[in-house]
Amino acid sequence: MSLLIKNGRIVTAVDDYFADIFVEGETISVIGKNLDMPADQLIDAAGRLVIPGGIDPHTHMDMPFGGTVSADDFETGTRAAACGGTTTIIDFAIQTKGKSTFEALDSWHAKAEGKAAIDYGFHMIITDMPEERIPEMTKLASEGITSYKLFMAYPGVLYTDDGTIFRAMRKAGQDGTVICMHAENGIVIDEIIKEALREGKTDPKWHGLTRPTRMEAEGVHRAISIAEVAGVPVYIVHLSSSDALDQVSMARQRGVPAFAETCPQYLFLDESYYFQEGFEGAKYVMTPALREKWNQDKLWRGLRFGDLQSIATDHCPFCFKDQKHLGLHDFTKIPNGGPGVENRMSLVYNGGVVGGRISVNKFVDLTSTAAAKTFGLFPKKGTVAVGSDADLVIFDPERKETISINNPHMHHMNVDYSLYEGFEVQGVAETVISRGKVVVEKNNYIGKKGDGKFLKRGLYGGLK
Ligand code: URP
Ligand code: ZN
Ligand code: ZN
Repeated sequence: MSLLIKNGRIVTAVDDYFADIFVEGETISVIGKNLDMPADQLIDAAGRLVIPGGIDPHTHMDMPFGGTVSADDFETGTRAAACGGTTTIIDFAIQTKGKSTFEALDSWHAKAEGKAAIDYGFHMIITDMPEERIPEMTKLASEGITSYKLFMAYPGVLYTDDGTIFRAMRKAGQDGTVICMHAENGIVIDEIIKEALREGKTDPKWHGLTRPTRMEAEGVHRAISIAEVAGVPVYIVHLSSSDALDQVSMARQRGVPAFAETCPQYLFLDESYYFQEGFEGAKYVMTPALREKWNQDKLWRGLRFGDLQSIATDHCPFCFKDQKHLGLHDFTKIPNGGPGVENRMSLVYNGGVVGGRISVNKFVDLTSTAAAKTFGLFPKKGTVAVGSDADLVIFDPERKETISINNPHMHHMNVDYSLYEGFEVQGVAETVISRGKVVVEKNNYIGKKGDGKFLKRGLYGGLK
């Protein structure tokens, strides 16, 4: 199969020019002016941007968590991702404490294979790492699992102590892989939560009020310090606050390879969402919690000036009626997480480019290229270049849509609410191509489950 995309404005993290793209099979084979080779399929991209498919390096499909399982599986979640202009996700396999990481990997392969609509990779969540298990990490890297997530939060569930963190970091650094960190002091936060519960404070707003930004900053500082001594690049996931960002900035000024992502929820939502009537605030229970609004400007500055490198979603949806209600009488029982994989590209384009906060090249970098470089996918993914996978989005920069569960163009996620209900966005993915195959055509999903393939990722790509 071949595909010719004509008249588009090609935008990468560094380029911005008008040209045609010829795709042969799964790969971009020619980029040039006025191409006229015969092709099986022709797309006119006049008036549209042609950008690399979005890469969301932080999703949780089919994830057992908080006494339930995230509402999107690899079929529904990746279909929604595609509809929103994302052509690659990196999800998380979870090691069961005391068991082999390969057991976890097999189980996550089984969840995704034959179901995913777009390409996917896995980080490995390490929940323990005794000496005898350490060699597994080198084997994982050879299987394309070249990044790990560790948790300083959720004691008794996913939490690991500093010794385990150091051991895993040491080995990850020796292997040329990267550590992702959920950086919050979960031990102290649990004490604050116990105090709140003793005082009968059980409604959703207490989720936010028991997780101070200082405890996120402390986690970030500790994670970076341990990583520096262990000799491994560290990537802070879902960074939410100015206090935490300061720690990343200071480390980077010292020349430490510390990186971080933030998420749309921290750029567009704030703690006031917890103070709504009734149980509504439960929709926004996620960790880290939503912050005071002034933090948003600081995060945008971090993105603009390079101390924050990526925007991921931390997509971890739970239905309001059937799942969030598990915590109706106790906020600690509300499953943590929210939906967003479908909304990221439009939200960031609208808030960033249309809002005058970032350039269109930076938009591509934050939503695709930087993640490809950090997580061993570049230049196969994350750019528009001869030889790269033809993961392309024909993006309409003018079109306006309202994000709503009632707008069939904008909601394919398997969840009964949207974090961004009623938000109007300018900039929408119109046609989406995954390895040369059109999977979304003029906003209609035409792909099929199983189109997506597992990505064996390379070693840490040296993002500076
Ligand atoms: O609330 C969240 N973020 N849920 C998903 C798990 C995690 O910590 O990333
Ligand atoms: Zn996390
Ligand atoms: Zn997460």
